[in-house]
Amino acid sequence: MKRLVVLISGRGRNLQALIEATRSGALPAEIALVVSNRADAQGLGLAEAAGIATHVLPHTAYPNREAFDAELLRIVVAAKPDLVALAGFMRILTPVFISAFEGRLLNIHPSLLPRHRGLNTHARALAAGDTEHGATVHFVTQQLDEGPPILQGRIPIHPDDTAETLAERVLEEVELKIYPQAIAGLLQ
Ligand code: GRF
Repeated sequence: MKRLVVLISGRGRNLQALIEATRSGALPAEIALVVSNRADAQGLGLAEAAGIATHVLPHTAYPNREAFDAELLRIVVAAKPDLVALAGFMRILTPVFISAFEGRLLNIHPSLLPRHRGLNTHARALAAGDTEHGATVHFVTQQLDEGPPILQGRIPIHPDDTAETLAERVLEEVELKIYPQAIAGLLQ
């Protein structure tokens, strides 16, 4: 059985979609470990409810990014993953971690990359007058949000959309669908 490690920092809506896809068989893999850099991440409760091992690695406990990444690497390597998926993981990873997993390290970014790299993508899409928006599953490389795209999903922007309504629709109608699909495709 292929093994996934999922890194989170928050709600875990993408993690939950991956959990459900492994249960339904849509994603023929097991989530071997969920790691969060925040002890208060709601996604930890979702993992525990699903019987998945969790590990909290508080970034505040480390003097710098490289020291955090070295410990994160040790923990993730020990779980023997075939793929590592960032799912709402809000830390910028350094080459210490990326170089060990490049080609097996994925992220989901809530925009149609290369448009709107970085944060606040929904508000920026509205401000730019974009008529459509979406999300991108991509390989993680050392350039933030620049890795080769794997799968994209797009939706129209409605005239009455706010950043909040757009974010929710991108999550529900795009992210939660394309992440399990992208990972299943890669593992085949
Ligand atoms: C999502 O919008 C995702 O695109 C971004 O982080 C947000 C929260 O994701 N990476 P989740 O609810 O923690 O999965």
